[in-house]
Amino acid sequence: MNTSLSEYPSSSVNLIVNEQAHQLSVRDHWTLLDVLRDVLELTGSKRGCDRGECGSCTVLLDGVPVYSCQILALQSQGKTVITIEGLSQNGVMTALQQAFLDNDGGQCGYCTPGFVISSLALLRDNPNPTDKEICDALSGNICRCNAYGRIIESVRSASGRN
Ligand code: FES
Ligand code: FES
Repeated sequence: MNTSLSEYPSSSVNLIVNEQAHQLSVRDHWTLLDVLRDVLELTGSKRGCDRGECGSCTVLLDGVPVYSCQILALQSQGKTVITIEGLSQNGVMTALQQAFLDNDGGQCGYCTPGFVISSLALLRDNPNPTDKEICDALSGNICRCNAYGRIIESVRSASGRN
C-alpha cells in the first residue's frame, strides 16, 4: 500500500517549551525531537542516533531528563519542556554553561546540549555530587570526541568543588 505523507493522521498538541505555550498540529508519528527541531526550530537538541542510545537529544520533560527522540510529541501533551535554548537569560549563560565553557567541556560540541541538560538535572537534585554520582548521572550520554574528563571537570566546577 502506498501512503503519502499527507495521509498520515495528525493531532493537536499543547506544549510549554522554554516557558512559551504552543498549540501545534503534529503528525501522530512525530517525536518530540522532530517537533523541537523541525517545527519550533530549536536545533540545540541534537539528533545523534535517533534511537535512544546517545543522549544528544536530551531535554527536561516536566523536569525529568528524557531522550526526546524516544518520546512521541503526542506523549508530551500538556507537559513542560526545557531545551538548551531555555537556560540562558537575556543572553547570559547559566553558571553550569559557563563551567562547560571555562573547562573546555566539549570538543565538537555535538553532545554538549545533552550533557548540559543531564548535568542540570543532577545538580538540581544533588548540588554536591561525587565523581561517581556525576558519572552515573551522565551515563546515558555519549561523547564521540571522548571529552569525558573535561565534561566531568565542568560539572565538578559548577558544583563548586574546585
Ligand atoms: S538522538 Fe536521541 S538518544 Fe541519540
Ligand atoms: S564533544 Fe564531540 S561528541 Fe562530545
